[in-house]
Amino acid sequence: SERLVVTLDGPAGVGKTTLAKRLAEALGVAYLDTGAMFRAVAWKLGEGAWDWPEDRLSKVLSAMRFSLVGQGGDSRIALDGEPVGEEIRSETVARWASNVARLPVVRQALKQAQQDIGRGTSLVVEGRDMGTVVFLDAPCKFFLDATPEVRAERRMLQLRQSGQPADFDEILGQIKARDDQDRNRAVAPLKPAADAVIVDTSSLDVEGVFQKILAHIRGA
Ligand code: C5P
Repeated sequence: SERLVVTLDGPAGVGKTTLAKRLAEALGVAYLDTGAMFRAVAWKLGEGAWDWPEDRLSKVLSAMRFSLVGQGGDSRIALDGEPVGEEIRSETVARWASNVARLPVVRQALKQAQQDIGRGTSLVVEGRDMGTVVFLDAPCKFFLDATPEVRAERRMLQLRQSGQPADFDEILGQIKARDDQDRNRAVAPLKPAADAVIVDTSSLDVEGVFQKILAHIRGA
């Protein structure tokens, strides 16, 4: 059968990960989290790497090997053979990731790695530029959106449920700052592809968004 690529792009905290995993399970295809790749690079290089000279960055990036391990909704990114873990999930690492993600040399290396992983494989892929740059020919593109307030509220509840402290205003500030940087960068800014279906998730729960997207894919 034909290769299926579903792209899910959108701002921070909009629910891409939960949805992408469920869709991958339902469709029986792999799940690729490209945010995890930017986070893994940021984590490995550490704070301030975004100020390194380009040739130094280029050299370390060309030595990094990305792969996908595991099956379906459980598939995970591995860097140099090590599956990435919870250490990349902090808001600090997210901010570092957004800083390195502005650099053309980083975007170019990861775009190549993302396309290599996707070659010949059906997948649900989440990120910021999947429909606009990396998988331009994908037949099913979605852009998830919700107000910053709705996203901050969801993130706060998520954190509190997992027993972590969470302050609404602090989370809202972080979400807005990261979105601003991702939307306004020169290369591959966050925006919907011209042929993406825009799904406003503000008034829908996960199940509602899931059903809506699945119906689109099955009708496509
Ligand atoms: O999706 P996640 O929050 O894990 O992504 C972390 C950061 O990585 C984003 O804020 C963004 O700057 C960057 N990113 C990107 N392009 C992607 C995926 C993530 O620039 N395709």
